[in-house]
Parts: sequence; C-alpha cells; structure tokens
Amino acid sequence: VEFDTVIHGGTIVTASERYAGDIGITDGRICAVAERLAGGTRRIDAGGRLVMPGGIEAHAHIAQESASGIMTADGYLSGSISAAFGGNSSFIPFAAQHRGQSIDDVIATYDARARPSVIDYSWHLIVSDPTEEVLHDQLPRAFARGITSLKVFTTYDLLNIGDAGMLDILSVARDHGALTMVHAENHAMVAWMNGELGARGLTAPKYHALSRPELAEEEAINRAITLAQLSGAPLFVVHVSTAGGAARVQRARGEGGQVFAETCPQYLALTRDDLDRPGMEGAKFICSPPLRDAATQDALWRHVQTGTFDSVSSDHAPYRFDGTGKLMHGQGAPYPKIANGMPGIAARLPWLFSEGVVKGRLRLEDFVALTSTNAARIFGAAKKGRITPGMDADIAIWNPEAVRKVTLADQHDNMDFTPFEGMELTGVPEIVMTRGEVIVAHGTLHGKEGQGRFFARAPMGRTGRPGMPVKEVELMRAGAGQ
Ligand code: URP
Ligand code: ZN
Ligand code: ZN
Ligand code: ZN
Repeated sequence: VEFDTVIHGGTIVTASERYAGDIGITDGRICAVAERLAGGTRRIDAGGRLVMPGGIEAHAHIAQESASGIMTADGYLSGSISAAFGGNSSFIPFAAQHRGQSIDDVIATYDARARPSVIDYSWHLIVSDPTEEVLHDQLPRAFARGITSLKVFTTYDLLNIGDAGMLDILSVARDHGALTMVHAENHAMVAWMNGELGARGLTAPKYHALSRPELAEEEAINRAITLAQLSGAPLFVVHVSTAGGAARVQRARGEGGQVFAETCPQYLALTRDDLDRPGMEGAKFICSPPLRDAATQDALWRHVQTGTFDSVSSDHAPYRFDGTGKLMHGQGAPYPKIANGMPGIAARLPWLFSEGVVKGRLRLEDFVALTSTNAARIFGAAKKGRITPGMDADIAIWNPEAVRKVTLADQHDNMDFTPFEGMELTGVPEIVMTRGEVIVAHGTLHGKEGQGRFFARAPMGRTGRPGMPVKEVELMRAGAGQ
C-alpha cells in the first residue's frame, strides 16, 4: 500500500491505551496502525509528540441566535477555525428551532450557515415547540437524516417546553433511538430569585450567580432524570455545574439508568468571584448555569475523575463584550438583560490537558475519552473519535511540554475577550487533521473554507445499561398485551 500520509515516531494515545506506533492514512481514512510504516507521500514526524483522536466538540453555539435573538459572534468559519486551533477535528453545534418554525426549515437554515466550516460538523436540534407535526412527522424525518440528538430546555421563557413537552419529546426520541439532551434549571425558582433580587435593587452582573441557585439545577436534573425514567428514554444532561446534580446523575447510573452527562471547563476553572469585577467586567462571566464556588469545583473534579461525566465540553456561546453582544442593552444593563454564555471552544482541550493531565488529576487515556471518544460513541459518530483502521483520520498531534499563556489572539475566534486570559497552560495541539487534511499546523491555518462536511450520526446504540423500569408502566404495557 502507498499511503497519502504517514504519521511516524509518536506516542499514540486512545481512550484505553498508549503505545509507540505509526499511522498510515489514505483517502482521508486511517488504513494502518503499526509499530513501523514505511512510505507515505507525506511523512509527519511525531517524535516526542502525542498522537490522539482530534477533539469532538459536542456543545457549541455557532451561528445561532440566543433566546432573545442575539446572533453569536462566531459563524461556522471562525467557529470551526477556533475549534481546530484548539485541537478539535469536528464539532456538533446546535440547530435551534424558533417557536412556530418547522424542523425541516431549521435544518435547511443551518445547512446553509454551516457551509463555510473547515472541520466536519453535525447538529443537535434544539426543540422549543413540540407540536404534533414536529413530534410525529418532522423529528422522525430529522432522525432518519442522521441528526439523532436534540436538546430541550426547562428554562428561558421562549425555550422552556414544560414537563409535558419533555415527556412527549422523550418518548418520540426513545421510539426512534434518538438521544434527548437537557438544560436543567428550575424556571420558577430562577424567576422568583430574579424578582427578589430586583426588588432589592441587586442587578449588577455578580447577582446573576445568585439568581440561579444550585438548588434550581439540582431540582431540574432530578426532574429530567425522573421524566426520562418514566418514558424509558436515554438522557444526556448538559453543562452540569453542581455537586448535587452530578450526584443525581451518578445515582441514576448506579440504578441502571441510560443517563449521560457533561461538565465544562468554566465550572472547573472559574468561580462566581469572577463576576465581581469592577464596572461591567463581570458581564463577561455571565453564563447559565452560572459559575459556582471552590467547594463545588472540587466536587465536580471528583465526578470528572470517577466517571460521572462522559465528556467535558466548552458550551462555546460567543457574545462579544460590546454593543453587539453582552452590552446590547447598554453599559450598566441589569444582569437579566445581559446575554448568557462565554467563549471557550479553543481553550477547552488545552485547559483540560494542562489542569487535568499535566497536574496529575487525569490519565491521558481519560482525557481522550472525555474530549473525543465518548462523544463519538454516545452521539453516534461511527467514523470518529478513535484511532483504528477504517476510521476518519481525525487526528491531533500534541506537544505535551510546550508552555504558553492564553491570549485572545490564540483563540482565533471572533471574540473580543477570553475568560481564560492569562492562564499559563502546558501542552499545545500542534497539528490538527480532519479526514487526513491538515487544518492547523504550528499556529498556521491550512484548512480551506468549506472543506468540512456534514456527518450523519447513527441512532443511539446499546449502552449496556438495563434502564430503570417503572412498575406501573410495565404493568400498563403488560395489560395492553404489548
Ligand atoms: O449561558 C449559556 N450557556 N448560554 C448558552 C445557551 C445554553 O443554555 O447552553
Ligand atoms: Zn516511523
Ligand atoms: Zn444550556
Ligand atoms: Zn449551551
């Protein structure tokens, strides 16, 4: 065989092992992994480097309007470039339904928006309007096209679908092997806190953190898991920010539940003190769920280490610190009028590598699982997230010893700040490939606009977990002879 590319002399790291080996790539696929491979039209020397599956960013808001209609600063060109500079070979942003909009129209809209992407992409739908047609006609059609996951919200006035809507969506998703993701915060508790804080005149950015108590997330995660249990559907809890929420996920898994979860670097790296900066600076750190405290960070780290979390995702939600984004409602806007979300698609992997692997909290193999392999498995990306023959050559080559300080310029996004500014991190993704094409090498972009492709995803496979049967539902099904 003559290979298009051979990556040689590196240490290959997968979710289960590490070993010295070479990788042969032809037509964008990995076609050989061996101790030594000769040949290759192009040979990439990976001596002293780690050769890992490229990151899969499974939570990012790209070319998406916020709940209140503000467009993210990153579209698919800058968003995908930023992702690639951060070690990602592919991503799965959201395709969000506005109320009244058909799912077919949503997909057509994002299909057009995503064309400039330099890395491969798929979408999770966001469903805000689960009408009969959406549930029984449009969603099944989307699943059949390989868009096999969707996110629902328990909060935000224009997105919250309520418990009944959630049960409807969960059961349709279960019937079609799709996976429901949930943003879990109790809407009434948040609204009540907003009222109480407002009545006291407490509307500076730092009060955002108080307005969404840990209890509100814990309650809503418990409720979402319970609704998923009743409907017999798998569930993925996004951006878990509390110890209580993580413990609820852990308990469900212990009981056999097909429950998955992620947390994000910001909940491990930053605290609510970051919102308490002079002037409006704190607005940069407004996201939902909000940043917590040091004790919660410690608890979340333990859940990352012990397997409660399947992945660590960025929740990249880029709203600039100017009149187009965070401060659209003016300097001095009260926190409820400041766009929620922070950027981090380029910082996710370097931050987790440095704080996790280099600091001895995570094994290298766990890093690969948390940033790539698990997302591929859970979200049905059959050709991605692994280094083995037949897979897409989605590969990141890391220098594990290079040290650099986080700067805005290094994020290569369309933002005017990074919440990780100034952090000193060890470990740099030097070469990033998507399907065998070098997208980024040593700080230079090689990827071309539009070279990323949509990838269809498989339905949820067997998880090996039995589920959490509900007596009454079993009796109902038995009674109906089903
Ligand atoms: O504050 C955040 N995370 N904004 C993005 C939207 C979401 O809920 O994930
Ligand atoms: Zn070699
Ligand atoms: Zn969310
Ligand atoms: Zn999000």
